[in-house]
Amino acid sequence: MNLHNYLQEKAASIEDALDRILAEGDTEPSILNEAMRYSVFAGGKRLRPILTIAAAEAVGGREEDVMTAACAIELIHTYSLIHDDLPAMDDDDYRRGRPTNHKVYGEALAILAGDALLTKAFEILAGCSVPGTAGRLMLRVIGEIAEAAGARGMVGGQTLDILSEGKAVDARTLFYIHKNKTGALLRASVRTGAILAGAGEEELTALTSFAEEFGLLFQITDDILNVVGDSSKMGKPVGTDAQRAKATYPALYGLDGARKMAREGKERALAALDSFDSKADPLRLLVSYLLEREK
Ligand code: IPE
Ligand code: IPE
Ligand code: MG
Ligand code: MG
Repeated sequence: MNLHNYLQEKAASIEDALDRILAEGDTEPSILNEAMRYSVFAGGKRLRPILTIAAAEAVGGREEDVMTAACAIELIHTYSLIHDDLPAMDDDDYRRGRPTNHKVYGEALAILAGDALLTKAFEILAGCSVPGTAGRLMLRVIGEIAEAAGARGMVGGQTLDILSEGKAVDARTLFYIHKNKTGALLRASVRTGAILAGAGEEELTALTSFAEEFGLLFQITDDILNVVGDSSKMGKPVGTDAQRAKATYPALYGLDGARKMAREGKERALAALDSFDSKADPLRLLVSYLLEREK
């Protein structure tokens, strides 16, 4: 299997589905809908919805059955990026290769576009709820996504990230920040696909371990790219973590230390998939992709 083709194919169908979900670009107030679409269609990697689909496929599920939930997670992720870039937070000017949302629409609209994307995610999740077993699975997923996005997940991690700026943090705090600010939503992405595709408890446990390793690996490589990456490839500035004295893996362990942790994390992520057959190959390839990615 060729990962490049897989990623392209999945990203294209996710793009189409998102376009249908956010179709009302001219709905009043049109400036709000425009601001929402501006950040959603700015060329993100779509890693989270791809993980949802790949996790579903790993346990024999189908893309179409998890697409709405996959898109809901991408909307939540996009909201988190818009708010993360605000002057009160990371104060960044570029994202996904474009000026950040608040640079174009102003801070008030950027906050509101983020709010509206977060809310839209739960609207579409509720909208695809059906009676019976599938309905119960969807309800479970809605709860998990909400938890992952909130105070016990991403928002909690973002809080510690901001509060730790400029402070010497220990390994425990660093782990807490990354597990929550990035890891929680990646974990929910995988679990959502698996749960909706009817994974058994053992499969779900294994995929959860995979997702936790994947999340850690993702954040370590994100931190490394902020030091050594090429901002024109990444579509966002580099060197900003050091400028703001952020709690990162390279800051605490050095670049080589962080790279070593990434290699070890890769082995653990792959080991978590040992009991799966070739249907989990996209998940396996995504692990290698994380280590090699340039954006
Ligand atoms: C970037 O996420 C922000 C973090 C959570 C660290 P991605 O690297 O997945 O960003 P996009 O979606 O491709 O823009
Ligand atoms: C972003 O983390 C995490 C969320 C948006 C939840 P960072 O602030 O470390 O990521 P970048 O570098 O801005 O993408
Ligand atoms: Mg941040
Ligand atoms: Mg940031």
